[in-house]
Amino acid sequence: MITVTKPFLPVRESFDKYVDRIYKTNWLTNFGPLERELTEKLKQYLNVEHLLLVNNGTLAMQVLYRALGLKGEVLTTPFSFVATTSTLVWENLKPKFVDIDMHSLNINPNLLESQITNKTSAILPVHVFGRACDVWQIQEIADKHNLKVIYDAAHAFNVTTHENKNILSYGDASTLSFHATKLFHTIEGGAIIAKDEAIIKECKKLINFGIAGYDRIEGVGTNSKMNEFAAAMGLAVLENIDNIMAERQRVNDSYDKLINTNLLPSKIETANNNCSYYPILLKDENTCLNVRDNLLANEIMPRRYFYPSLNTLDYVKYQSCPVSEDIAKRILCLPMYPSLTKEELIKITNIVNYAS
Ligand SMILES: Cc1ncc(COP(=O)(O)O)c(C=O)c1O
Repeated sequence: MITVTKPFLPVRESFDKYVDRIYKTNWLTNFGPLERELTEKLKQYLNVEHLLLVNNGTLAMQVLYRALGLKGEVLTTPFSFVATTSTLVWENLKPKFVDIDMHSLNINPNLLESQITNKTSAILPVHVFGRACDVWQIQEIADKHNLKVIYDAAHAFNVTTHENKNILSYGDASTLSFHATKLFHTIEGGAIIAKDEAIIKECKKLINFGIAGYDRIEGVGTNSKMNEFAAAMGLAVLENIDNIMAERQRVNDSYDKLINTNLLPSKIETANNNCSYYPILLKDENTCLNVRDNLLANEIMPRRYFYPSLNTLDYVKYQSCPVSEDIAKRILCLPMYPSLTKEELIKITNIVNYAS
């Protein structure tokens, strides 16, 4: 079976070396030495100043909404993983869907202004599949209307813009997911990256029950800390990151050579492709299902990322987003992970090219 993704496991010795340290210190969680080491290494690697590790990408978002004091309506994209919307609803915020641009697959900045009301407090775009949003136009609109900008950057590990800045350094803050299936992972985990150190300090308090010092609780908090075993996996995976990136690039380039190029979404010119996903766009839903079924019949598991369009979820108020609804019905993500072989790629692309 070829799955859409396969978690990267470092060699045992590499992970064990960190686990041995946990056994030596007996420090398992609560901002331990490995969590601190991973924080520093990621800040350096990603070239960002303020970063807080958390136990998953979902809580990274929820905690951040609270730290930034979001209220009322949040403008967001309907084309994403469900957590982009559900985290807002969970925090009693109202998602207001702004349709996507058919080329970038990201929120369409030209449609943002018409959706802003006096209840809007923030914009929550997603760099979907690691494809950089138009961070410049989004910021211009946010500045004009005094709105916060939070990027759900769950897919955007290692994306650098043409300004030679990490994509995580745009907006007020960004969140990453370090779920096992991601390009970089800590089994379960995530991070909050913010421009302002005070936001990170507030988040650090919120992820630790509101504890602000010895015998001092300030407000309601939750528990969203990263444990030492997760940090150990992160440190071991980070040792392999150059190899992971190179392998993903190899798989991406092979796909590009083998696949019918009419199926590919437009390239993003303003930033690199981190090769976190390999999406293809079929001409309609029937063709999409036909390709999927042909792949499944050959024990290859693509995924309908992202279906359904989030504006159609049963717990949100439906707002029409024709581009997102159309794309969601006919997009498929093909297997993408470092160890995919040339033979496997030929098999996958032969089926896709034939069935589309
Ligand atoms: C766009 C997006 N946002 C948020 C999340 C949530 O991250 P996590 O699974 O780490 O909670 C995901 C997870 O895959 C995602 O794809």
